[in-house]
Amino acid sequence: MLAESLRKVEAYLEEQLSTGHSLISGAVMSLLRAGGKRIRPALVLASGMFGKAAPAKLVPVASAIEIIHMATLVHDDIIDDADTRRGVQTVHARYGADVAVFTGDYLFTRAFHILSEYASHEMLSSVARAVQEVCEGEIEQYEARGNTAVSFGQYLRRIRQKTAMLFALSCYAGALVAEAPRGTADALRRFGLHLGIAFQIADDILDFSQDSAITGKPAGHDLACGVYTLPVIYALGSNRWGSKLRDLLVAPNGSNSGPGNEQERHEARERIIAIVRESGALQRASQVAERYAARARRCLAPLPDGAGKEILADILASAVHRAS
Ligand code: IPE
Ligand code: IPE
Ligand code: MG
Ligand code: MG
Repeated sequence: MLAESLRKVEAYLEEQLSTGHSLISGAVMSLLRAGGKRIRPALVLASGMFGKAAPAKLVPVASAIEIIHMATLVHDDIIDDADTRRGVQTVHARYGADVAVFTGDYLFTRAFHILSEYASHEMLSSVARAVQEVCEGEIEQYEARGNTAVSFGQYLRRIRQKTAMLFALSCYAGALVAEAPRGTADALRRFGLHLGIAFQIADDILDFSQDSAITGKPAGHDLACGVYTLPVIYALGSNRWGSKLRDLLVAPNGSNSGPGNEQERHEARERIIAIVRESGALQRASQVAERYAARARRCLAPLPDGAGKEILADILASAVHRAS
């Protein structure tokens, strides 16, 4: 149902991003053409179906949000020192951190430039706020690296900021552009927030359960960065596995990147992953993702039936039960 509009988004992204300095456009186009799920633009377009048809504005706004997302990926891959993204080399690995820094900045600026043409002052302010939240979430995560005392509450707050706010914004922006009723826009924003939380929990589970050939990004990478996500938090809380896991995580040649023998660190990581799987923490984390998905579904239920609602329900189902 969205295919036609998503094709327009794709064409718009190509057109907007192929211009500019050749070094930057090379870096940007390789990320763009590598694919990606395009969930955020799909959320904008589907949410826009709850108001008046406004393709001339929805397509640029949906594209701008995907560009913001791409900017966060380029910068996130520097912080995480990741070498693959969407199955191809990251900008950071291919061109170095310098190029990745200004490619990310360039993408942010392009997005705001597009929005300044199509978005209201209220929407611009919401977008700026969401980007600020993403930054705060990433900073909090950075500061918490290696902290085995990280709580469920801290984790939840972090993923709400770094991921769910942009999902919420995508839904809200679509509704605003299409001039959907205020109550509908608010319900869609809450839908996006719960969906985003479920989505990030699923992403964190995939880091333990899925191969990099399928996700297109390195597996076990959160651990290697000292980022302890919900599966680790649950495994740390287990009577049977908690203290063994804590010892492995804090061992000098443990899981984190850093000086020391890479082979030993790799083996330590493998042991940690085996414990997390064995402890049942992945199933528990998955139940939490389901709980947030159910909350999202409840936000959708009172909204008028139609294509928009069907698409959002489909996106929700595929966000939690996905392989990449
Ligand atoms: C990756 O987002 C960053 C997270 C919030 C986990 P996506 O999984 O939507 O990335 P692409 O756009 O499909 O590559
Ligand atoms: C989401 O977190 C990153 C952003 C909000 C950009 P992750 O660090 O888990 O994302 P991936 O796994 O690298 O895609
Ligand atoms: Mg990352
Ligand atoms: Mg991840």
